[in-house]
Amino acid sequence: MPSKASKVITRRGTFIHTFNDLNIGIEMEIDTKRPLILAHPAAGNHYHASISFAQELNHPFIQVVIDKYPHFPDTWPNESSTAGTFMRYQRLNDTVNGDPVFRVCDEKQPHWQIQVANDANMYLRKIPEVDILYLDWIDWIDDYQKSNQKGINIILKNVSNYVRDGGLIILDHKHELRKLFSTNFTDVCLSNFGGCTNSCISYSGEIEWLGENSSSELTAYNASVFTVEKKNQHSHQLDNYQQWFKKLIPEFAMSIKQINHVLKTNMTQYQHVDAYTWDMHNKNYIEQLKNDVCYPKYSNLTPPKEAWDFSSYQKFLIWLLENNHLLSDELDGRCYHHTFSNHKVNIFHGDIVELAPQLFHDNCFIAVRRALSKKIINRFPWWKESLVTLQTNEPWASNPIQDMTWSGANVSIKLIEEIMTLGAKKFKDRFHNRDNISSSFNIITIANGTGDLNELLRAFEHHITSEKNDCPFEMNLTVIHVDDFDYLETSLDKSWIRVN
Ligand SMILES: C[S@@+](CC[C@H](N)C(=O)[O-])C[C@H]1O[C@@H](n2cnc3c(N)ncnc32)[C@H](O)[C@@H]1O
Repeated sequence: MPSKASKVITRRGTFIHTFNDLNIGIEMEIDTKRPLILAHPAAGNHYHASISFAQELNHPFIQVVIDKYPHFPDTWPNESSTAGTFMRYQRLNDTVNGDPVFRVCDEKQPHWQIQVANDANMYLRKIPEVDILYLDWIDWIDDYQKSNQKGINIILKNVSNYVRDGGLIILDHKHELRKLFSTNFTDVCLSNFGGCTNSCISYSGEIEWLGENSSSELTAYNASVFTVEKKNQHSHQLDNYQQWFKKLIPEFAMSIKQINHVLKTNMTQYQHVDAYTWDMHNKNYIEQLKNDVCYPKYSNLTPPKEAWDFSSYQKFLIWLLENNHLLSDELDGRCYHHTFSNHKVNIFHGDIVELAPQLFHDNCFIAVRRALSKKIINRFPWWKESLVTLQTNEPWASNPIQDMTWSGANVSIKLIEEIMTLGAKKFKDRFHNRDNISSSFNIITIANGTGDLNELLRAFEHHITSEKNDCPFEMNLTVIHVDDFDYLETSLDKSWIRVN
């Protein structure tokens, strides 16, 4: 049967593995050029089992937890434990789709837990094939529900569609799934499934390992292992994975130049803007301590001091640079130069939330409406300090831009002027009292007015040539548009020249 039988595959982890004999570790080939992907459908809060499995493999990994009604690790009751009330996980960012991403703070290995609130069948059909599919509950499997046959073979055949060649299916024994099938797994060997000749799923033994449970207690987990072999090599090309990763984790959306800059400037890893942080915890505690009427009361949870310690984070960035096929290209757009000055307008096509990491730079500021700003900083919290506030968060306060109108005819001149003025102030405040002040700044916004290029250029020119504008710096305006028909280039006004 397996064509790769003669290949020596490294054993990984401290699993106790039994098949014909007893061994330590499981045999698995890992693609070292990318993070390993483990999917745990219908996980509920049993994701502790699958994350402890992935931690054993000693390679960067992404744990995709997919549940219609997910249990996030920063919500009750997962933190409370006999060990205390320390939060083991911290929330990092949201994916482009708005799913929260977490990490186990004391884990050195780069890893991400993506909590997807979706039907598992629907989600798994859309993503590239995973390396490991972790099964502890089978009712979510669509085709299995519809089928009259209820054996293990039908389950394996169904879920193996989601697993890459050489990947594993792990059948956790939690719900006595082993007993349920009352089959001797040694006999399980499915060949030529899913219309694919030379494909095969075979039983690879029983494993046991130690990992933490939801109460942070060390627990023995056990499972049966199945190996998938198939011949469709196309679906797991690195490029497919990179395109997916960059929508989940901001660093994968950044360019080599940006990651080098993050490393050089010693930037620390971000936490989600809504995360309950160590600083907030201490501030609350001190506030209560100062209040002599109340005794200081501990919050139920103590957050970690940092989500990802600085040296491990830097190691991850270096690993990314060594595997720079995982990074994104620099953004490709159009640039228009004002012929009578140094000011410029850039036009990029795409979704600003998706492009947020690629647009990030020290001297860039984003000016969009409040709701969109929130999506941007959820996706990439580093933008938090570089948002130009156009609308206040407090309903009682007056907005910096009165009567703001974003779309329609004759709105761009007022809007661009106000955005650029507020942006320039933000830039000056940032570099106030700094020696290394940048000579230029860039305000990033989205399509406005009628989405006409000359209208935009005229509005910007109106601002830079206005007597009211006393800004001595080089100004750049970047506009991101999603609609193909916006900002088409027709004949340019004389005062503008396209430079790329
Ligand atoms: C009984 S719990 C099992 C939780 C966990 N896997 C365990 O073994 O303890 C069933 C979980 O499946 C989820 N679920 C049911 N159907 C699903 C589907 N089609 N896609 C994703 N999650 C589903 C439910 O929301 C629930 O959290």
